[in-house]
Amino acid sequence: MSQSSPGSPPSPAGADTSTELPTLRVAVLGAGTVGTEVLRLLSQQGVDLSHRIGARLEVIGVAVRNLTRDRGEHVPAELLTEDATSLVQQSDLVIEVIGGIEPARTLLLEAMAGGASVVTANKALLAQDGAALYEAADIHGVDLYFEAAVAGAIPLVRPVRESLAGDRIQRVLGIVNGTTNYVLDAMTRTGASFDEALESAKELGYAEADPTADVQGHDAAAKASILASLAFHTRVRLSDVHCEGITEVSAQDIAAATRMGRTIKLLSIIERIEDETGERVSARVYPALIPDSHPLASVSDAYNAVFIEADAAGSLMFYGQGAGGAPTASAILGDVVSAARQRVRGGVGPRESRYAELDVIAIDDLRSAFYVSLTVQDRPGVLAEIAGTLSGYGISISTIHQELLEGDGTEQQALASIGITTHRALESAMTASLDVFSATATVLGIDSVLRIEGE
Ligand code: NDP
Ligand code: HSE
Repeated sequence: MSQSSPGSPPSPAGADTSTELPTLRVAVLGAGTVGTEVLRLLSQQGVDLSHRIGARLEVIGVAVRNLTRDRGEHVPAELLTEDATSLVQQSDLVIEVIGGIEPARTLLLEAMAGGASVVTANKALLAQDGAALYEAADIHGVDLYFEAAVAGAIPLVRPVRESLAGDRIQRVLGIVNGTTNYVLDAMTRTGASFDEALESAKELGYAEADPTADVQGHDAAAKASILASLAFHTRVRLSDVHCEGITEVSAQDIAAATRMGRTIKLLSIIERIEDETGERVSARVYPALIPDSHPLASVSDAYNAVFIEADAAGSLMFYGQGAGGAPTASAILGDVVSAARQRVRGGVGPRESRYAELDVIAIDDLRSAFYVSLTVQDRPGVLAEIAGTLSGYGISISTIHQELLEGDGTEQQALASIGITTHRALESAMTASLDVFSATATVLGIDSVLRIEGE
């Protein structure tokens, strides 16, 4: 921390007394969708932030790849550098909004080794290599904050890590990916195609640089891994999270959901499961049918919403903008204030808590209700055969809906689409039933398999 006092705009309330405060040198790594908004807030709210912190924040550089691109008035060209390594070495505080694993990982480790505290929005890095980051923060006595990594503007990491640290979280259920919610919502409400809706989400700055991370569920899985680790005091790795994306969700699935009074949402679910084998945790991401009356069904656009169930607190609901430059920058600035206050006053923020070390339950051992859609030959005995297979694996049917499909007009080619919902059943039993259907001549196609949640 230095005592330099470069000019700062006067406070509207009167003379700017912040120039008398010590200065913290801030490096911003990345000036894309989020970084540009971080720099705007740092510039527009500089005086207020300095009073909240007790030190002035001086942005000493902004690391990017392309030095020539114009990034607007809040990203002065003279601050841009390609030399991110030197930048972090001179900093007290590093804000990482590059994304991806490298060079973000190396830069953050170097920053901490050099004594800088770190604020990052990088869920992919935290989920893949959070252990190394936590360890570096511990060894070097600096802070690691990452509120923006889960659900954009919504305060979620801090509530789970700090506010509920005295409680016992049982379950977290929510929508934590804005892009996929935007896509599913557009497909449901406007009939947009998957590709049209995704293109629009990219233009609005919600999607990751590579949107496959969004649509294949990896982004939501990274967030589930972060939340599960915090909620259950256990290191839940990305590879521990069962992950299915939305690329297989079809217009027919959306229509079937509407017919059933349900909505399809990409859900992240983390749960504490206690049974005769002891206590374990589950972390999973998949598109699921929820009743239209469920509060998550009305979460539209790129909004996120998360329910937390804790023993003493009961049910808590968090809702807000889960993606986009300004909302994400808001979460980052909150972390910047926390980390900066700590540097001014001494001490460090929360560390990794993983004393519980609970095992992660395999998806096969979980129970869910299902919706299964099959294309079948429309002839006597087919329904009985399907019902027989399901009952053979202990799966109880809840409802059946059949529609005739266009064949070639002959009785031999008559086809039907059968939509079945089941009561809760073991995943492994459903997998075994689907294997049988795949090998059955009367079943011409398994068109979709979706879990039903929230009932
Ligand atoms: P962008 O792709 O818009 O921006 C990335 C920035 O990083 C660009 O300025 C790019 O430089 C810079 N960059 C990339 N590689 C390097 C490198 N090797 N050295 C220096 N700079 C580099 O990403 P976002 O702003 O959307 O996302 C940033 C982070 O925030 C990610 O971790 C993302 O997951 C996370 N996040 C994003 C949200 C969103 O809604 N967008 C929401 C929540 C979290 P250049 O401009 O020159 O190409
Ligand atoms: N791509 C992410 C999303 C950004 O769509 O939610 C927020 O983490």
